[in-house]
Amino acid sequence: MARASARQAGVRVGDLLELDVTAPAANGVFVARLGELVVFARGTAPGERVVAEVTQVRRNFCRADAVEVLQPSPWRRTPPCAVAGACGGCDFQHLQPDYQRRLKAAVVCEQLERIAGIDWRGEVEAVQPDDLRWRSWMRYAATPDGRPGLRASRSNKVVPLPDDGCLIDACCPPVGQRTVGGRSFKVDADAFWQPHVAAPEVLTRAVVEGLSPRPGERALDLYCGVGLFSAALARAGCLVEGVENNLRAVECAAENVPTAVFQCADVADHLSGRRDGAELVVLDPPRAGAGRAVAADIARLARRALAYVSCDAATFARDAAALQANGCRLDDLRAFDLFPNTRHVELVAIFTGPGCA
Ligand SMILES: C[S@@+](CC[C@H](N)C(=O)[O-])C[C@H]1O[C@@H](n2cnc3c(N)ncnc32)[C@H](O)[C@@H]1O
Repeated sequence: MARASARQAGVRVGDLLELDVTAPAANGVFVARLGELVVFARGTAPGERVVAEVTQVRRNFCRADAVEVLQPSPWRRTPPCAVAGACGGCDFQHLQPDYQRRLKAAVVCEQLERIAGIDWRGEVEAVQPDDLRWRSWMRYAATPDGRPGLRASRSNKVVPLPDDGCLIDACCPPVGQRTVGGRSFKVDADAFWQPHVAAPEVLTRAVVEGLSPRPGERALDLYCGVGLFSAALARAGCLVEGVENNLRAVECAAENVPTAVFQCADVADHLSGRRDGAELVVLDPPRAGAGRAVAADIARLARRALAYVSCDAATFARDAAALQANGCRLDDLRAFDLFPNTRHVELVAIFTGPGCA
């Protein structure tokens, strides 16, 4: 069916539309239709009937924000934060946490199927804290009059923090030392650290359980940051080599895991010239994913198994398809709710390398 253009439908920014909302889309919004015109509506839920104000008109779709709920979802709640909806940080705060996870599972399932042909029917696992006060670090913006705030959705406008502050901020010390399972990590202010307070332990456990590292095995930790997974692999007796392009992170990693070797390099450059493989590979790339060339190199180098940690289901699906096309087999895929109240989800996938199929 041809999609109607917004112009044909006569829709303009500021119009109020009465919508029946159907399914979750990616990016924390929900699909509704105005005749044949697709509307991506924010702050609503499947099954709801809402009045939404149009915020953006594109040729084949428009965006709108719910301003009145005529028929609420049974899973709607009063958002705990006074600026939820105005602030762009929490897409799902108006929905109960269990239901948020069901929505995220549906989106992951759809993306894996559509992009990689992967049939995944798993759940998004809850991690405590599973609602508020979970962020180990926050980046605030300043309002024109100097108050702390956060950006509005799809805008540079800064929404001032409410009196009780941002409710997902767990107020951890901003930089310095972090402790995971009794082990201390040095983290530079410019280096990456997992945002959820429980993520380091949850992800480390999932990676180690999935790979079952054996003493003496060689392990490559790609996009290694300050050495979170390197530390766990070294503790299991592996000979670990980490690759990371942020020099400050590499310096921290070398202090955090003195028995491992760390290279400050771009992963794609490092792998393209590399001949010697490793029994185990861990990769935890940024949201953009690793890309097809890196996936092909990993498939060439991983002898026994690899763990792919991802914060973006769409780029993970693209890379998973490339790994499978190069002979890797997906053995296990878990999803964790490490970004409660937002649309984001963390995946840990375990693949068998082509060398041991
Ligand atoms: C999602 S973080 C993961 C860090 C680490 N595994 C952890 O859990 O703390 C991704 C890391 O990849 C690094 N990075 C991004 N692009 C890179 C590239 N092209 N080559 C090497 N490292 C890269 C970033 O600096 C960041 O430390």
